[in-house]
Amino acid sequence: MSVGLEREPSQAVEPASGQSDSGGAGRAAERPTWPHRHLLDTDVLTGGDVELVMATADAMKQVLARPIPTVPALRGRNVTLLFYEASTRTRVSFEVAGKNLSANVVNIATAASSVTKGESLVDTVRTLEALGAQLLVIRHGVSGAPYLAARHFGGHIVNAGDGWHAHPTQALLDLYTIRERLGQSLAGRKVVVLGDVLHSRVARSNVWTLTAAGADLWLCGPATLLRGFEAWARVGAAGRRFTVTSDVNAALRDADVVMALRVQRERMASALVPSLREYAARFGLTAERLELARPEAFVMHPGPMNEGVEIAPAVAEGPRSVITTQVANGVAVRMAVLQLLAGRVA
Ligand code: CP
Repeated sequence: MSVGLEREPSQAVEPASGQSDSGGAGRAAERPTWPHRHLLDTDVLTGGDVELVMATADAMKQVLARPIPTVPALRGRNVTLLFYEASTRTRVSFEVAGKNLSANVVNIATAASSVTKGESLVDTVRTLEALGAQLLVIRHGVSGAPYLAARHFGGHIVNAGDGWHAHPTQALLDLYTIRERLGQSLAGRKVVVLGDVLHSRVARSNVWTLTAAGADLWLCGPATLLRGFEAWARVGAAGRRFTVTSDVNAALRDADVVMALRVQRERMASALVPSLREYAARFGLTAERLELARPEAFVMHPGPMNEGVEIAPAVAEGPRSVITTQVANGVAVRMAVLQLLAGRVA
């Protein structure tokens, strides 16, 4: 499968490993195409869409392995990053991804923009489009904000995290990182998402991708931080089942992958967690608890972490941790997403 990057002789991108591209007549007709104008969540992605992101990310990893990790795929295109919430990994990796693809990348610091004077999201989006933005990456504290933006923007929107709702590129990079270790099919593999599931956009987007990949998905945390997920599990995510439990030992037993989630300190005020100390004692991912998982199990965390709360420092920095690999894979996966969206024929 070719991922269809624009090429220069000195910067040609080879097909992903194991995928041939003979370049023969008729091959282009077989080439999978990306059908989405925006990436707002993972719930609309078909298995073929996900495979295309994974294959494109494979090719991007090959680009990243070069001494100069740059291709001209988005030369002349304008990528604008509009972050209304703090971010390190997502914002920086989108900036690096855009620059690696030779796009013009503009960063909007909302604290120094007309947002502080009361400018609405819709006005801001229209203004950025008038200034040349073609691809807008938005993080917003309000669930659904990127969907509203998409109704008023002529280009492509990527949701970089909206409220508690969705974080599609995080779910895709998580899937990519898991597949690097476990292979393409996750059928029968036990993946545990442990922590503050209720407030987690990462957990919600991961439900779609991990169940679609066939994982035996378990969501685990205090009952107060699982509200609504039991009902969702009963109904199923597009017919796909997952398990919801507060029994941390049952969840971790024989797990192949354990993904810890940040306990958001601000949730203390809403009394959903009695104390961080109690949370750490009952649900924290410690080395002792991790012994319940399979010997080859690995540990993930989307970050930022509260070390000593949802994850012990020895686990976060230990040999089973792939947390920094997740961060690095974020660049390749976001390069893939930008390329697929902006390379699409409108
Ligand atoms: N995982 C994640 O979204 O991290 P940032 O908030 O640092 O972007």
